[in-house]
Amino acid sequence: MRTQVGIIGPAGLMLSHLLHRDGIESVVLEKHSRQYLEERVRAGVLEQGTVDLLVEAGVGERLKLQGLVHHGVELSFGGRRHRIDFADLTPGRAITVYAQQEVAKDLINARLDAGGRIHFETHDVSLHGLDTSKPGVRSRVGDIECDFVAGCDGWHGISRVSVPEGALRVFERTYPFAWLGILAEAPPASDELIYTYHERGFALFSMRSSAVTRLYLQCAPDEDIANWPDDRIWEELRTRLATSDGWHPAEGPILQKGITGMRSLVVEPMQFGSLFLAGDAAHIVPPTGAKGMNLAIADVRVLARAIAEFYRTGRRELLDRYSATCLRRVWKVQRFSWWMTSMLHRFDSLDGFDHRRQLAELDYVTSSRAAAGSLAENYVGLPLD
Ligand code: DHB
Repeated sequence: MRTQVGIIGPAGLMLSHLLHRDGIESVVLEKHSRQYLEERVRAGVLEQGTVDLLVEAGVGERLKLQGLVHHGVELSFGGRRHRIDFADLTPGRAITVYAQQEVAKDLINARLDAGGRIHFETHDVSLHGLDTSKPGVRSRVGDIECDFVAGCDGWHGISRVSVPEGALRVFERTYPFAWLGILAEAPPASDELIYTYHERGFALFSMRSSAVTRLYLQCAPDEDIANWPDDRIWEELRTRLATSDGWHPAEGPILQKGITGMRSLVVEPMQFGSLFLAGDAAHIVPPTGAKGMNLAIADVRVLARAIAEFYRTGRRELLDRYSATCLRRVWKVQRFSWWMTSMLHRFDSLDGFDHRRQLAELDYVTSSRAAAGSLAENYVGLPLD
């Protein structure tokens, strides 16, 4: 079997779609089932540039209808909420709340409607000849010979570990906490997201629709979800999120709960020979700020352009610059996710000085136009180019 680009993993669905629009053939191999990708609960905040790209690429119909456009977020501390006004500060830009699995559905539908080849539940993928110009992808589907391989299969995927030892360098930061997240059948009690710093730990109020609230609580890194019966979750959320004006989240049946780990990871370079790494295969951000999928989409846009340029002109400059181009943006987004995480969480190792410094930082960010503007421009998304 032959194709131009062999793609491993779900972040590659967008790459496959963008390549198709440029007349370039690809095959996507994915270890999970279609149902799993369409149902797994992940973050749900899309940057303005991500939304624009999905719409431009013709996969934004449902997003435009069902996405919730937000022109600001709130930061809560000391029992009070403070709004960061994106419309004013960025100016005119916004974020859209639309769940990651909905983006996956839209992309899978678009690819299958266009006759795209996606092989779900393909577990036994191995990569060959990555240091040649004719790399191969082997699996139960058969041997696929291609010109390029895109490794979009996450940090635990096979792509990155197929690179010879020593060719990549990993930069890492772990955090001494995790998030316990729930989806609740309860109408969101606020129109916008609320990031809360509380002495008992971080909490986040978010939503998925007019009937479903999404909430997160900082918890221990090795937390066992069994220790968190629904009553305990609601009590903790109430304690951390409630503000002195009497606001509190609406409660309802918990539809889903899970624990999200917190790590910052970057691998450099994001390329080895004919293999290009994109999304979580190359970097992980802690969830604060919801940048994971946005970064993956930014990577594949750079890669799609570079591959299209190669087939159109034979020139490799954009391919050669792929890693450097992506890493400039990746590191800025890493910085932002690390900063939001550091500002908003309780660290057991920190003392009274740090606690007051965190409160001063929150006070500064919510009272200085320059500081609020910096948060806002990063939150709505740095330019893709
Ligand atoms: C959501 C997740 C995040 O990590 C975040 O910063 C904001 C919102 C969410 O799932 O809605």
